[in-house]
Amino acid sequence: MSAVEGRPCQLTVCRGCCCGTRKKVPGVDHKAQLARLSAIDDHSGRTVPVRTSKCLGICFQANVVVVQPSQEGRAAGGKPVWLGRVTEDALVEAVDDWIFDGGPGVAPLPAVLADHVTSKDAKKPKKNKKPKHSKAAKKERHKAREKKRARAEKASGSGQRPDKDRAESKKPKKPKKPKKNKKDEKDKKARKKEKRARKAAAQA
Ligand code: FES
Repeated sequence: MSAVEGRPCQLTVCRGCCCGTRKKVPGVDHKAQLARLSAIDDHSGRTVPVRTSKCLGICFQANVVVVQPSQEGRAAGGKPVWLGRVTEDALVEAVDDWIFDGGPGVAPLPAVLADHVTSKDAKKPKKNKKPKHSKAAKKERHKAREKKRARAEKASGSGQRPDKDRAESKKPKKPKKPKKNKKDEKDKKARKKEKRARKAAAQA
């Protein structure tokens, strides 16, 4: 082994809340995948150390595998390469071939892995929402209103309600109570008092 060869490539395989679970990544034999990754040898016959890790923070890319460069690769400027959506055997095979050829910094990335390169800062893509004020959104709202109106007209029978029906369906208004006039009340009391006084004077 040459001095430059030094440490071999290393693999970090995520096995957290999503990576390696059937619930989040169905249809993959996760145990077999880990075993396969753990059996990778480099061109010097060294078995590549594999470290499993808890969530690496980009679950939407599960399963995540990080290929660390060998000492030689690092010396040549190689950096750790994060791979996401490693769910097919062909991808694991490609990782094997790449490491055998020298890995990051030494051998070019296999084409099949190019679409799977990601990073620890990868952002989950947002779902495409229609902007509230877009023409399409306005059109949809208009359509919904038209539908609602048509349904209401259908339910009421012959479309628009005749004015007569509308008039009949109105509740009769209660007659308003006349407001008490305070002045009239006072006059009334004064007259009563006068009447009583006259009666008393006549009796005396
Ligand atoms: S579980 Fe692997 S990135 Fe979260």
